[in-house]
Amino acid sequence: MVAFKSLSVATLAMGVVAQQPIRYMPMGDSITEATCWRSKLWHKLQSTEFAKTNFVGSRNGDSGCNDNTYDKNNEGHSGYMASKIATEKLTGPWLSANPADVVSIFLGTNDLAYNHKVDDIIPNFTTILAAIRAANAKMKIVVVQIIPLDKGQSDRDKKTTPVFNTALANWAKTNNKTESPIFVADCYNGMNASDYRDALHPNEGGDVKIADNMYPAMLLALAAAKAG
Ligand SMILES: *[C@@H]1O[C@H](CO)[C@@H](O)[C@H](O)[C@H]1NC(C)=O
Ligand SMILES: *[C@@H]1O[C@H](CO)[C@@H](O)[C@H](O)[C@H]1NC(C)=O
Ligand SMILES: *[C@@H]1O[C@H](CO)[C@@H](O)[C@H](O)[C@H]1NC(C)=O
Repeated sequence: MVAFKSLSVATLAMGVVAQQPIRYMPMGDSITEATCWRSKLWHKLQSTEFAKTNFVGSRNGDSGCNDNTYDKNNEGHSGYMASKIATEKLTGPWLSANPADVVSIFLGTNDLAYNHKVDDIIPNFTTILAAIRAANAKMKIVVVQIIPLDKGQSDRDKKTTPVFNTALANWAKTNNKTESPIFVADCYNGMNASDYRDALHPNEGGDVKIADNMYPAMLLALAAAKAG
């Protein structure tokens, strides 16, 4: 009886481990922290096998999103640049405080807004990626091609954002790994001036577009995480 009992407890424990929800860290700047696309994405996931996805991160705000039903945890930091996160080595501590299986990297907007060169920003992504894989060699990664700066209306945007986004997609290909795949989400195309609440941040229509554009890459990353 004792042997039988411990066996069933062990079997139960294994079952519980197998059903652990996938942990997802949305990492980024104010477009991750102070917007509503995380809410839209969470709701889209509710009709999938990934409904229980556990959003993780040290923060839980969303500034004006007005949805108290979703999992708000995130690692979005207003004003942060990829260069700051890379040079201050913030990624490792973030992921040791809140381990994840899937991470999205939605960065570059502030670097471009402060006139950092694409050739300097991309190496910062490489630094962040190394820290991500040091935290979890099997991390599944969604890298976001960023939304236009200045509502897509300025020369600054036209000259820099598409160049950055193309470089980022190439970087993702170069750094892809079987056990730690990188999936690219295109959040640039389709955003237009009416999708913004100010020069840089989406309004609700923009949040819907961002969630829709991240969704396919997120599903691939979550499926990869489920597969191990
Ligand atoms: C990151 O960005 C800064 C500023 O753009 C740059 O000086 C630095 O060399 C970059 N390096 C790494 C390793 O991330
Ligand atoms: C990375 O590899 C996966 C397959 O493991 C593939 O689905 C994905 O499209 C690749 N990513 C890039 C950016 O090429
Ligand atoms: C901009 O997006 C809105 C919805 O977000 C859409 O109604 C409108 O047609 C789009 N405009 C252009 C020029 O694509």
